[in-house]
Amino acid sequence: MKIIATTSLSDYMDDDFNAFLADSGLQYIPRQNRSLPLLQDEYQVEGIVVWYKGGPVLFIGEQKFFFHPNMAKNRISLYRKSGVIDPLIVACGIKPGDLFLDCTLGLGADSIVAAYFSEGGRVTGVESSPIMAAIVKWGMKLYQHESPWLINAVHQIEVVNCDHYTYLSTLDDKSYDIVYFDPMFRKPLLKSQALAPLRVLANHDPITEESLQQACRVARKRVLIKEQISSGEFERLGIKKIVGSNNNKINFGIIDCTE
Ligand SMILES: C[S@@+](CC[C@H](N)C(=O)[O-])C[C@H]1O[C@@H](n2cnc3c(N)ncnc32)[C@H](O)[C@@H]1O
Repeated sequence: MKIIATTSLSDYMDDDFNAFLADSGLQYIPRQNRSLPLLQDEYQVEGIVVWYKGGPVLFIGEQKFFFHPNMAKNRISLYRKSGVIDPLIVACGIKPGDLFLDCTLGLGADSIVAAYFSEGGRVTGVESSPIMAAIVKWGMKLYQHESPWLINAVHQIEVVNCDHYTYLSTLDDKSYDIVYFDPMFRKPLLKSQALAPLRVLANHDPITEESLQQACRVARKRVLIKEQISSGEFERLGIKKIVGSNNNKINFGIIDCTE
């Protein structure tokens, strides 16, 4: 997909934008008061990243893609208000100080929840789509909110643009406590409009046995995979321990690495 970057209409340019351009490798086109459809036409591109003070936004036609931690915020708030622990946290058994490797970062909601519960630890989020990694990395970096607990969790995440197999191969044995995979579902659960840009940009490949082997080498405590029980992925990957209720379509496959 051909994508360019520009500023908002007020031509707001700063050091962060320059760093984002260097990081993403996107071509910068001065806005010069032009509308996005005009720029799209003129430069024959499918997407335009617009730089705002709060972080980059990718426009693809009518759709927008940008970092927002809303789902993670709701999940953490539920714990803070009612003591309900998020199913991901129950399944992975993360503790304060743990190192969590998210091999499928996406919009980073699971990483943020893991960061909140691993206070004092470290969360690394690996994303193979270069444009998604750049938007989420810079969206996280510039994210501000009135709640320090949310900002701390978001800013605790290190974003890496890499295929997870390649990244895992570079890591030492037992260098993370938990290694996590949440691949794109074989059949999407929701036809949500909000997730439409993510579906276009994301890597839809299934988890490979080689990646799973690497994950088991790298994890000290657990490897976790989120999947739909009906997908057949747990059987294909030989995962026997599965948690989640029958009426919940999403389940976690767990490989215990301490045994
Ligand atoms: C379902 S989304 C993850 C959602 C994420 N857990 C969240 O809470 O926002 C899956 C993401 O993993 C990425 N992905 C898929 N295969 C990958 C791979 N081999 N290496 C790195 N990232 C990958 C996709 O591009 C997509 O962004």
